[in-house]
Amino acid sequence: MAILQILHFPDPRLRKISTPVIDIDDRVRTLVDDMFATMYYAPGVGLAAPQVNVHERIIVIDASELKNKPICLINPEIILQEGIDIQEEGCLSLPNLYEKVPRAHRVVVKALSKEGKKFELDAEDLLSVCIQHEIDHLDGKIFVDYLSRFKRDRITKKMEKMRLRTL
Ligand code: NI
Repeated sequence: MAILQILHFPDPRLRKISTPVIDIDDRVRTLVDDMFATMYYAPGVGLAAPQVNVHERIIVIDASELKNKPICLINPEIILQEGIDIQEEGCLSLPNLYEKVPRAHRVVVKALSKEGKKFELDAEDLLSVCIQHEIDHLDGKIFVDYLSRFKRDRITKKMEKMRLRTL
C-alpha cells in the first residue's frame, strides 16, 4: 500500500468534476487500498479520489472512534436527506482549518462496494456529514464554498501563502 500525495486548496485540480467508475478492477481496488492508507495516515475521517488527483467517483470514510469501520463508496448517490445539522468540518485538503457548515442530519446513500456490489447506507450525524462532504469533492465542491465570500477569500489567501512556504 502506498501513501498518496493530497492536493491542497486552492489547487484548481480539486475543482474538476469526477467521472463514474465503469469497471471495478484491480487498478480501482489498489487505489481504494491506497486511499484508506492515506486517510488513516493523515489522519482524517474521509478522503475523496480527486484529493489524490484521481478524478473518479470514489470515496473512503471511517467516522468511527476506534478507526475500525472503513467504508468505501464507489459512484455514491444520495437518495434521501432530512433534517439539518451544523457541525464544524475540516478537510485534508485544507489543513488546520475548521468551519461550521450546514448539512442534512441524515442521508441515505446508494453506492457500489469495492467488490462491485450495490448497497445502501443510512447515516446520521458525523457519518452523514462526512458522506456529504466527500461527495461534494466528486463534484469539485469544497466546504469553504458554503462560507461567506469574505471568509473564503481570507482562507484562500492564507492557504496560498502556506503553499508558497512549503514549495
Ligand atoms: Ni475534504
